[in-house]
Amino acid sequence: MRKQIILILFLAVNQALIAQLPQLSKVDNQTKMLVDGRPFLILGSEMHNSTGSDTAAVTAVMKEAKALKMNTVLGYAYWEMVEPVEGKFNFDLVNHLILAAEKEKLKLILVWFGSWKSTTSSYAPEWVKTNPQRFERYVTEDGSFLEILSPFSEENLKADSKAYLELMKHLKDFDKKHTVIMLQPENEPGTFTSYRDFSSKAQKAWQASVPKEVIDYLAKNKGKLFSAFENAWAANGNKTKGTWQELFADQPGYPHYAEELFMAYHYSKFINAFAAEGRKVLDLPSYCNGWLYNKLGYYPHGTINSHVLDMYRAGGNALDFYSPNVYSLDYDMLFSAYKIGGNTLFIPESILSPAGVLYAIGEYDAIGFAPYGLDGWTDEKNKTLLSDVNQTLAEMSGLITSKFNSPEMRGLYQAPMAKNKSIEMGDYVLSISSAESHRFAIDFGKSLEKAGKETISFPQLMGIEIPEGMPKAETQQGPPPNPFAGLPKDYGAAIVIQNYADEFYILGYGLRVDFALKNGITFKHLGYRSIEKGNFEKNEFVSTKRWNGDELKVVLHEGELTVLKVRLYRN
Ligand code: DGJ
Repeated sequence: MRKQIILILFLAVNQALIAQLPQLSKVDNQTKMLVDGRPFLILGSEMHNSTGSDTAAVTAVMKEAKALKMNTVLGYAYWEMVEPVEGKFNFDLVNHLILAAEKEKLKLILVWFGSWKSTTSSYAPEWVKTNPQRFERYVTEDGSFLEILSPFSEENLKADSKAYLELMKHLKDFDKKHTVIMLQPENEPGTFTSYRDFSSKAQKAWQASVPKEVIDYLAKNKGKLFSAFENAWAANGNKTKGTWQELFADQPGYPHYAEELFMAYHYSKFINAFAAEGRKVLDLPSYCNGWLYNKLGYYPHGTINSHVLDMYRAGGNALDFYSPNVYSLDYDMLFSAYKIGGNTLFIPESILSPAGVLYAIGEYDAIGFAPYGLDGWTDEKNKTLLSDVNQTLAEMSGLITSKFNSPEMRGLYQAPMAKNKSIEMGDYVLSISSAESHRFAIDFGKSLEKAGKETISFPQLMGIEIPEGMPKAETQQGPPPNPFAGLPKDYGAAIVIQNYADEFYILGYGLRVDFALKNGITFKHLGYRSIEKGNFEKNEFVSTKRWNGDELKVVLHEGELTVLKVRLYRN
């Protein structure tokens, strides 16, 4: 009888948790994703753009995601297929996506390819695309128009909102288990072709005063704005009245900043407006992503880049955060820019870089990471690594998220452009070097040789040089670099968790860590008490091997995820 009562209670609690909406919880300065009431690190990948229109391919992609130990897939709801005829909705593909994910016990992030997909409006239904009189287009300075819906048109907003709302109503009815945990309304808005929209409605808005909600945002966030934006406003006298041009114009080296801010704000208003309506029906976390600048200065104007993030925020609050699509390896610059103003970090797209997953989560408290295009990967080495990283992090989600915003968790990154070659944790300094720099480490106390040789050459491809946070808007020429080129050698990352004063968990690959005590901590000798190799199960470390002798050093070899528990002693 007692057993039965316990079982009933257990089932009831379980049922209650399952019924809970996925949500972003913000408690004690920690932002976490909660799924079924539990902390959840999003470990996934986005399928290729057209995969979602092919049910067999969707089924296969879910299997592949499962094999790669992911817990989430980013898939699509295409406006053109959801509403092929105005007012007639068809959710068959969305249903298939949900059921296919459910079958593999995966969660979904649903990307709404509505008005904008990587700048263009190619996913707008045919009845929208072929009627520019009703659905106004983005107009360039010479009067020609682009295949981009204008964010200034009320008719455009009405049409996109209606379809999105139907989608949300459908999810509410169909997806009772909340397989869909998050929405991404739109994808990389902006354009390469013009600094701003010159349609008649856009012209009117450009010539009018900066709206009050922007002015209020500026007043509220003065001193906390993105530095280039703060400088632009200050250079024009921190005015609280005037046109966009009067408030933000004429930046040295970047004369079109005002236009870009203007477009960012209006894209944001549009997206936030319909996302807000959708959340009234089904209140799921939501975000949108940006096409980042690269070395050549390529990026679409008005997209969600860090230097206009403030204007995305000013345009509404239906989106919880904004995300970078990370196709470079300059992680410190990118991740830190997307943390400004309390933005939550989530990487919905990147190259297949398991190191990125470890570093974003360990150092920048990212709620998740999804390298792009799992249905096209051929790099078996990195697929295996990613799969091991996914499996380990999923088992550690509770532990890791409990260390968000705490000095007890750090990320290590071994690459030429990495910011820190050493970090401090508690009484310790951890020095990072290449995994291939093998040395014995019998006594690594005060006489510790300086770890790390900064000799690595690195393919030009990945660098980003942006002076003082300002985009190189004037240099849009030449072909963009290939974001899918291979990762450099001698590249790795790790997460370190300080468990007790002299005990650390370290998981990662492609780097070596040497320990020393901080200056001022007196000791005669520092040594390893033990190094255990193992894995994590339900947030607990399980030891499988003890490293000593030749292996008595913290080397996380290239190409292989290693999970260690390192205990030190000092006397
Ligand atoms: C960024 C876009 O957001 C994705 O939809 C996809 O097109 C990738 N680029 C690369 O193919």
